[in-house]
Amino acid sequence: MSVRRLAKEQPESFAFSEDTKAKAEWWIKKYPESRRQSAVIPILWLVQKQEGWVSEPAIRAIGELLGMAYIRVLEVATFYTMFQLEPVGKTALIQVCGTTPCMLRGANELMRVCKEKIGDKDVLSADGRFTWQEVECLGACSNAPMAQINDYYYEDLTPETMAQIIDDFAAGQSPKPGSRVGRHTSEPEGGARVLTDPTLYDGSRAKKIKSLPNSQPAAEKAPA
Ligand code: FES
Repeated sequence: MSVRRLAKEQPESFAFSEDTKAKAEWWIKKYPESRRQSAVIPILWLVQKQEGWVSEPAIRAIGELLGMAYIRVLEVATFYTMFQLEPVGKTALIQVCGTTPCMLRGANELMRVCKEKIGDKDVLSADGRFTWQEVECLGACSNAPMAQINDYYYEDLTPETMAQIIDDFAAGQSPKPGSRVGRHTSEPEGGARVLTDPTLYDGSRAKKIKSLPNSQPAAEKAPA
């Protein structure tokens, strides 16, 4: 994991929006009063949703809200890579998986497209709309190569589909997430190849077993 530090340039202050504050209170109430610090991760996430990233003044505000030392909030924010410690693209944050299965299936080419269209890795684009990053495995390896864009996964990507997705975001559209080869969840390409018999799932096999003689559950049988 790379060293994660707060951005050099920080805003003067941070304020919870009404919506963020209400959601934060909801999370805090899930825990006993003496354990309100347990809400630190969801509240960091809410702040990131509000601002797009987690600033140093926001970390202080969360510490005050939860009665936590600022350093404890900072430790959490810098540990988890899902928290962005500097401003990222307002239109799209593109996180390309660069771990082995995705790398073997062409992640390098996806990153080349990102670099051509957006600029250097981890650097906010000149217009402030895009950032792309290389991240570790996102758990969708069977649909490699893939990228998370904002909150959704885009899978089975090629340089062409990656370029199209970026263009669509740039044009103000919201490209449909999911596989680009029509794969259903993580089934093999072309559809499921095993466990395809519908009677495995429609209950008919259980009904047949029930209707057999001596098929009562063991608990109902008379003791020997
Ligand atoms: S290696 Fe890319 S999602 Fe797992």
